Amino acid sequence: MPGAMKTITTTNALLLLLSLGLTDWPYAIVHAQGLFDFEREPINYHNRPANNVVTRLQSGIDSGKVELVFKEPRGYLDSILQYLKISKSTQSLVFSKSSAQLRKISPSRPRALYFNEQAYVGWVQDGEVIELIASDPTLGTVFYSLKQKNEAKPRLLRDKGQCLQCHAQRRTRDVPGPVVRSLYTGSDGQPILSFGDYVSDHTSPFSERWGGYYVTGTHGKMLHMGNLLTDRNQPPSEIDYSQGANLPDLSGRFDTRPYLSSHSDIVALMVLEHQSQMQNLITRALYEEVRGRSYDKARESTQDFPSDLSKRLVARAGNDLLQYMLCTGEFKLQSPVRGTSEFASQFSARGPRDRKGRSLYQLDLTTRLFKYPMSYMVYTESFRRLPSRVMIHIRRELHKVLTAGSAGDDYAHLNLKDRRAIFEILKDTCPELSDAW
Ligand code: HEC
Repeated sequence: MPGAMKTITTTNALLLLLSLGLTDWPYAIVHAQGLFDFEREPINYHNRPANNVVTRLQSGIDSGKVELVFKEPRGYLDSILQYLKISKSTQSLVFSKSSAQLRKISPSRPRALYFNEQAYVGWVQDGEVIELIASDPTLGTVFYSLKQKNEAKPRLLRDKGQCLQCHAQRRTRDVPGPVVRSLYTGSDGQPILSFGDYVSDHTSPFSERWGGYYVTGTHGKMLHMGNLLTDRNQPPSEIDYSQGANLPDLSGRFDTRPYLSSHSDIVALMVLEHQSQMQNLITRALYEEVRGRSYDKARESTQDFPSDLSKRLVARAGNDLLQYMLCTGEFKLQSPVRGTSEFASQFSARGPRDRKGRSLYQLDLTTRLFKYPMSYMVYTESFRRLPSRVMIHIRRELHKVLTAGSAGDDYAHLNLKDRRAIFEILKDTCPELSDAW
């Protein structure tokens, strides 16, 4: 049945592999019954052509218009970021062995992540590949790797399913996509899974964020799990979180010279967390409408159209997306947050702006992340090209929220002034949402 998605969390198969010594990664999600739902029709994830910033980069390389420069110590990284227009101020450093290439990652050699709305890039010192995730309007997100080897025509290889082991599961809302995880991490970089782990987005309390990440910046009395090497023999209740708090820089922690920047900026991390799950909810809305339409098509001649099932799929995925993009359930900051790099100033300077000069990229950072709690991801191609049923649903429901006479609905975190401001900004800058208003 379409929509009956099953995340294949087959603990038994995993235990079997572990007992046979076939995996050294203790919490991989294994494809026990073969396929995720989106790998079959109607999404047919692996067999549909991709069209995104990475495929365009590859076409440029193939035609000779683009030349990626390979330069030590980072290989293709600098050139890739330049081509994808990703700022080095987005750098986030992860020291837990929680991803691919985990043997090369440790507290003295953290992995570096960079992102913008269209792409995410992962780089490891002396890594075999650069890892990429591209936002793709017809497929959601697509995964690539680029060999760190100087070649005349480098190839960005599309993943055949390997990345999905960790990047398509409950943590990514059952679609392929980015994820920010928080894990207690030992001094060797190994996650201590028995202490628990978290997925982070803007709703996560600070106390559960950034285990296994370096975090530079100040955040007053709020404590988090970042910057801490945990002793696995010590009960988690005895951890002194203040040791990892309010870190101004990374000096003395490890040699930052091979990296593009010496920051792992707290504000960049907060934006990445918001964005990663926003991307996954956009992908999910896309998939649910495609599934609903395919179901309807198969029974069109005999039944009502669109069917109740397809209406339900669209309404549920659309409502989840709408709630998230309006920052429902956001963790309320108890102290102001300040980063250490130029990330916040670069990010908040971005447009589009409305006639009063306001933009959804403006940051608040005293009580919440954004000045106007509405995701800037509405400007991405992936959002703007969402199929019509889900887009119409979101447009209609959003209009109700933004023009409500009182704030006593599910969106009580938005006062009437916030709603008015978001309405006016969207009216001036986002025709996909506001044309019919
Ligand atoms: C063993 C599990 C695992 C596998 C396999 C894996 N990743 Fe990841 N990946 C993660 C985790 C966990 C994160 C979050 C940051 C971290 O812990 O390093 C991540 C983060 C990323 C990021 C940064 C954006 C984000 O999601 O936070 C990129 C880019 C990325 N992975 C690409 C890939 C690609 C491409 C592949 C396949 C070649 C892949 N990954 C395979 C676990 C994995």
